[in-house]
Amino acid sequence: MTLRPHRVGAVVERLESVPSTMDAVKELDKDGAVVVAAEQTAGRGRKGRAWHSPEGGLYLSALLKAKMAPKHLGLVPLWTGLAAAETAAKWGVEPRLKWPNDVLVGKRKLAGVLAESALRGRRVDRVVVGVGLNVNNVAFPPGVPGTSLRQELGEAQDLDAVLDDLLARLTAHYDAFLDEPTGFLDDYERHCATVGLGVAVQTAAGGTVRGTALAVGDEGELLVRTAGGEGGAGGVVRLREGDVADVEAAAEGGPGAPGPDAGAAGREPSTDEEDGDQGAPDAGGGAAP
Ligand code: BTN
Repeated sequence: MTLRPHRVGAVVERLESVPSTMDAVKELDKDGAVVVAAEQTAGRGRKGRAWHSPEGGLYLSALLKAKMAPKHLGLVPLWTGLAAAETAAKWGVEPRLKWPNDVLVGKRKLAGVLAESALRGRRVDRVVVGVGLNVNNVAFPPGVPGTSLRQELGEAQDLDAVLDDLLARLTAHYDAFLDEPTGFLDDYERHCATVGLGVAVQTAAGGTVRGTALAVGDEGELLVRTAGGEGGAGGVVRLREGDVADVEAAAEGGPGAPGPDAGAAGREPSTDEEDGDQGAPDAGGGAAP
């Protein structure tokens, strides 16, 4: 099938096999350029984890070079995850987002998003956003609770049709984001399984924040209300990154709930000189939800 022209996907390079589309797309140096690979030999997920990328899955990275404020970097993987969830919903499954950007069906992971950004001084030079969407995957690494559209729907799906739909949605979200960066957040929260529930979030600093997820803030952070530990005061913690390890089961502000200065709370979105990992779960093709 011929792909329709989209801003995200203005240039689409298709590769049979590549270590990671995240690196390949940087070579294209054009806003909206996309690399799609049939397989990746060194696909990566958030937090340095591997993303198992055999043939059958959709693996793409897009290069975003439009002007954006550093404080809005944390929103990019959120609307990208929303776009992937919308595509999955169009294919007839019922996806939910787990903050920040995992797409789950039930407790199984259907898609993951990785964003890496580069700053030039205090300016955002580029963002590379990658999506791994399990379309026709039939197996996942041991211990990885993944699922695919094929497994959910009982038959193989047209990869190019999924790609075309996803590029259209990424384009719509990218345009809307440049116009009004936080405009998508209500929609995101409606699709988000995390907001409103008890959560235990493993922070980048190695701690665990327990409490109730209240909302997603204007910079993409998860707002968690913690209760005080023994004699301690509760409060609202802003988590810039982390893994939601446990939803529902976590009691609000259970033992070990740190105060507002714990973990990743209150930090700027992680961005380093070259590539700042914005986020991500375990081995892909299905990272642990
Ligand atoms: C996650 O850990 O959930 C994020 C997974 C992101 C995987 C995609 S596949 C396309 C792109 N290339 C990579 O190496 N990673 C991303």
